[in-house]
This record gives sequence, structure tokens and C-alpha cells, in this order.
Amino acid sequence: MKFVLASQNQHKLKEMQDILSAQGVEVVLESDIGLHVDVEETGSTFAENALLKAKAVMEASGLPAIADDSGVCVDALNGAPGVYSARYGGPELDDIQRYQLLLQALRGQTNRAAHFTSHITCCFPNGDVIDAEGICPGTIAFAPQGDGGFGYDPVFFVPQLRKTYAQLTPEEKAAVSHRGKALAVFEEKLKEYFAAQK
Ligand code: IMP
Repeated sequence: MKFVLASQNQHKLKEMQDILSAQGVEVVLESDIGLHVDVEETGSTFAENALLKAKAVMEASGLPAIADDSGVCVDALNGAPGVYSARYGGPELDDIQRYQLLLQALRGQTNRAAHFTSHITCCFPNGDVIDAEGICPGTIAFAPQGDGGFGYDPVFFVPQLRKTYAQLTPEEKAAVSHRGKALAVFEEKLKEYFAAQK
């Protein structure tokens, strides 16, 4: 079965493909099927935005569509950037400028506690919806470390592994990350959903 990922993000695609291929699901990007749906992320929660994205792409493609809405929530910033993680500092910033802005916002701050959240929603053309959420607790490092991954990976430190997301292999990241955890729950729900169809 083919699922369209409501995103242009190759990193998210890879993380999803690695896990969902085990269920016989092929995940493709919108661009792979000649689609580019512009969805305004007007929700105030990850769940609302994931549903907005998945529903719009399902309606445009006629195929099951899966969306991940995710971001980093920093305690000392009252949960910011949160749902605004991709737009933190404005659309003209790149990933490096965005995490540098975050480090700047936390300069002199000793409370570095943070967590990443991923909400995954899949909308099927028959109206069925499956969703799952995953959280990874961590801290914001004082300086970037590692060069893997994307986004805030170099500054998100996982105390359990004593490494930032950017220092983890894809397998290590999948085992502890917000998206890995959300996908594990999602995979179980999908298995039950497929079994119920038989
Ligand atoms: P979304 O595409 O609207 O869900 O935006 C998510 C944003 O959160 C991304 O642009 C990244 O900046 C950040 N983000 C989400 N997941 C990760 C991750 O696994 N590592 C680093 N940054 C992430």
C-alpha cells in the first residue's frame, strides 16, 4: 500500500520509510506523485496541525496520507518554539541559524530542560484516521555537537545516551526519538487496522 507523506522533508521520509516498510507500506513524498499542497498550519497543537496536513494531502491525492507535526518545546521558554519550531525566527532562517537563535535565547539560562514531540496522523480516503504521539525528553546543549540529522539535532542532547541527536546513528535516533516512539505506536495501530480489514 502506498502512503503519501505530507511533507517535503527527506529526513522525515527516511525515518518513516525505515519503520513502515516492515508493514508493507511504501511511503512517497508529495513531489514523487507531482503534488505540492500548501497547508497553513493554523492549529495550536501538534495533533491539530498533523490532521490539517494529512487531510489536505489525502483529499488532493485520493491516497492515504500521513503527516508528522513535530517540534522542540523548551521549558525555560514556556514551551517555545513548540508548534512554531520550523518557523522560529522567521521563514528566512536556515536550520543552523534557527538553532543558533535558540542557543542565543537560552544564553545564561541554566534550566536547559526540553522535549521533542511528534504527532503522526494518517487519513484514509474512506474517512478513517489513525494517529500516535511520541515524546523524547532531553536538554538543550550549550553548543552544537555532531553533524548528522537535521533541524535542531546538533543542540538536542539526550541525557540517557550522553549524545545529541546529531551524534546518533539513524538506528540509535529511531530507538529514542520522538518520531521513533510515535512511529512505533503508529505501527502497532496500523497492524491492528490492517488485521481488522481482512
Ligand atoms: P514541521 O515540519 O512543521 O513538523 O516542523 C518541524 C520542525 O521541528 C522542523 O523543521 C525541525 O526544525 C524541527 N524538528 C522536528 N523533528 C526534528 C528532529 O527529529 N530533529 C531536529 N529537528 C526536528
